[in-house]
Amino acid sequence: MIEKIYLDNAATTQVSRQVADGVFRCLTEEFGNPSSLHHLGLQSERLMKDARNIVAGFIRAEDKEIIFTSGGTESNNLGILGAASARKRFGNHCITTQIEHSSVLNTFAYLQGEGWDVTYLSVDKNGSIDIEELKNAIKDNTVLVSIGHVNSEIGSIQPLGEIGLYLKRNYPDIIFHTDSVQSFGRLDLKPGEWGIDLLSASGHKIHAPKGIGILYVKNGISINPRQWGGGQEWGIRSGTENLPGIVGLGKAVSWIKEIKAKEEDTLSEIKAALVKGIFKAVPEAVINGPEPGMGAPHIVSLSIPGIKGETLMHVLETHGVYVSTGSACSSRKSDKSHVLSAIGADKLVAEGTIRISLSYLNTLEELSCIPSILRAAIDQVKKYTRR
Ligand SMILES: Cc1ncc(COP(=O)(O)O)c(C=O)c1O
Repeated sequence: MIEKIYLDNAATTQVSRQVADGVFRCLTEEFGNPSSLHHLGLQSERLMKDARNIVAGFIRAEDKEIIFTSGGTESNNLGILGAASARKRFGNHCITTQIEHSSVLNTFAYLQGEGWDVTYLSVDKNGSIDIEELKNAIKDNTVLVSIGHVNSEIGSIQPLGEIGLYLKRNYPDIIFHTDSVQSFGRLDLKPGEWGIDLLSASGHKIHAPKGIGILYVKNGISINPRQWGGGQEWGIRSGTENLPGIVGLGKAVSWIKEIKAKEEDTLSEIKAALVKGIFKAVPEAVINGPEPGMGAPHIVSLSIPGIKGETLMHVLETHGVYVSTGSACSSRKSDKSHVLSAIGADKLVAEGTIRISLSYLNTLEELSCIPSILRAAIDQVKKYTRR
């Protein structure tokens, strides 16, 4: 049997052993409803409190600033729509970027349909916004700015601290939201220090189960709920809490904290070695977005002009290597990726793109064979294409 090498971690990650054990206990033994007043309920409430405390501590937030949601998509929807609705009497203009995830872009498209005015900031070839363009886009009626931290397709990183502090100093009433789904657990995040009001993150990108996420809501920032019910999560997100997911998220964060404390956080090192090896074996490869040393530590977007990324992805699969053609959410659509369009990638480059994304479970040793497998797979695709 071919050994599997999973390199699609920006799409989702494998649940780690510690996380799975905690989730299993929650499903089978510690299964009470945190709102129930009996022992099992109180036990669940305690587990939830502990997980909230771990997650809050990880981003230097207070426990009550963490709202558990069903994932990144819901957090983005709740943050953007909740803030827009809470601020609509002060204005109807929002600012975001052209390269956001579909859960942000489609939420803004919905707001536009409701009469809101939305500015989409451009990015340069590295996938970076221009702060001057942001400053010039702000109007008297701007109420919300939403800028993602790490782009899921190309790994570009926006300077959240610089943006947040500029906004807080000059426009304290504008709400600043960030989609940090790809950076949470991988890059340092200090929403309190960086002038961030709302921050979205997701569990399944960091070895927790699917269907759990958080929205950080800074103390004193009020957003309107999008669903109503029993008033859980301070009334911002009603509904019986997903305790197995919440416990899983807490365990995943604790596990990542341990990795970081032991300085075993070698994502950047693995990425650097991998890119070096790939360029040696595949000199015709083109990197999309930031220079390898500048972007997120876990994402490499590369193109082999003249061959189809999707075909290459399937051939790599026959070698046991799992990558993606772009972001998992948009890879089923046939249109050119909106992110590659925004950075000015031409058609041949865009079509020939694959995304390799790493996790804390990958090792240098495991990936040493990737450059030669990639070379063989590309040659195979070229042979088929020439026939
Ligand atoms: C940047 C970004 N935002 C949001 C999401 C959506 O998160 P979820 O899958 O938890 O809904 C993703 C998932 O790919 C993402 O990469």
